[in-house]
Amino acid sequence: MNVLVINGPNLNLLGTREKDHYGNTKLSDIEENLRAIAEKNALNISFFQSNAEHEIVDKIQSALNDIDGIIINPGAFTHTSVSIRDALLAVGIPFYEVHLSNIFSREEFRHHSFFSDIASGVICGMGPLGYQYALENIINKEK
Ligand code: DQA
Repeated sequence: MNVLVINGPNLNLLGTREKDHYGNTKLSDIEENLRAIAEKNALNISFFQSNAEHEIVDKIQSALNDIDGIIINPGAFTHTSVSIRDALLAVGIPFYEVHLSNIFSREEFRHHSFFSDIASGVICGMGPLGYQYALENIINKEK
């Protein structure tokens, strides 16, 4: 089983960015934790972060034949990107939407997601653990 973890814009700044919302954990720490869980469960995991919408679209398109599950935090593209939504629909790979912060307790423009209605699951407001919960869910479904 191959899992791809995608992080959108500004998530490369985790650990330094708006700590009140996103905490102290770096993206590399999150990835390390997921890699350890994947290894324990004999699962292949790969990571991709980009600040560019088209690069995320390209990555999703290229996942078509070898990725079985996607965990994605689209960052601000959550609230804007029809093209990333369409890419996920086009490849038809089951995906989990993760947000570190609770987007529903924040500004109104963050309350709408272009992904939630087509996601296998949505986790928000649980900080870095959200990624872990999504991965554990994929693993449990496989068993
Ligand atoms: C976020 C929430 C988004 O609204 C925001 O634009 C982000 C991060 C989160 O993880 O809480 O960049 O997706």
